[in-house]
Amino acid sequence: MTGHPHLIQIPRYDSLTGHDRTKAAGNGSGDADDSLQPAIIWGARGHAKVLNEFLPQLGYQVVAVFDNDPQATSPIAGVPVFHGAAGLDVWLNSHRETQITGLVAIGGQHGGARGEVLSLLRSRGVRVPAVAHPTAFVARDAQIADGCQILATAAVCTEVRIGEGSIVNTGASIDHECVVGAGVHVAPGATIAGCVKIGDRAFIGAGAVVLPWLAIGSDVVIGAGSVVTKDVPDGVVAYGNPAQVVRRAA
Ligand SMILES: CC(C)(COP(=O)(O)OP(=O)(O)OC[C@H]1O[C@@H](n2cnc3c(N)ncnc32)[C@H](O)[C@@H]1OP(=O)(O)O)[C@@H](O)C(=O)NCCC(=O)NCCS
Repeated sequence: MTGHPHLIQIPRYDSLTGHDRTKAAGNGSGDADDSLQPAIIWGARGHAKVLNEFLPQLGYQVVAVFDNDPQATSPIAGVPVFHGAAGLDVWLNSHRETQITGLVAIGGQHGGARGEVLSLLRSRGVRVPAVAHPTAFVARDAQIADGCQILATAAVCTEVRIGEGSIVNTGASIDHECVVGAGVHVAPGATIAGCVKIGDRAFIGAGAVVLPWLAIGSDVVIGAGSVVTKDVPDGVVAYGNPAQVVRRAA
């Protein structure tokens, strides 16, 4: 554990030697493991699988999945799926005795939806902490707000600040002194150089590079593999090398 009050993290590779990875991977049976605290995930797609892979290493077991899509099936073997806010309320009513931890598994360009679900979970008394994969690097002086997810091998460097419900996806890096808004998604392998500002709900596509000191607006989409060399205004889609604004974001 580092100095982050809200960031759930466990020791890194070296101190993981001897860790029981069989248990960490789960047995897929859905049987409760008494040593783990119950967690729920909102979002029944691939991102839920990504979270489920490492939550046991943070001391959590996923016990239920929720999704607004009435046709959604569970992405995690042995874990039941429930539908909508009504499904959440029914489930929570039968688990009143336990403090429930929740995570929002909504990726892609849906930072707004992620924020809405975060608020919904909180309104029902569900705790939504930030989580970091055991292989992620998070600087001790980085400030990571609740609901953030720092995924495998990602790096969040010194004096970075990240707002609520943002995702730093697999292998992405956010260098020193960046200020990242709420509901942002930095997709796999994207590189954000030092002192960059990123507005709320922006999506930085896989493998994109943002040069130092730039400002990316709110609700911006940066295409995969782009190289961003200039500031980008609010609410646009930009891509290419160098990235050009192509249209308004939907
Ligand atoms: C930028 C993006 C949002 C544009 O999506 P779109 O508006 O549906 O664009 P289209 O697929 O219709 O493509 C339109 C044109 O832009 C080009 N284009 C699309 N994305 C591009 C990109 N990232 N870089 C360069 N050119 C791109 C297409 O080749 C196409 O060119 P053409 O008109 O000459 O055929 C999307 O392509 C993208 O890069 N998304 C990011 C995906 C990602 O990183 N996912 C990670 C999930 S964790």
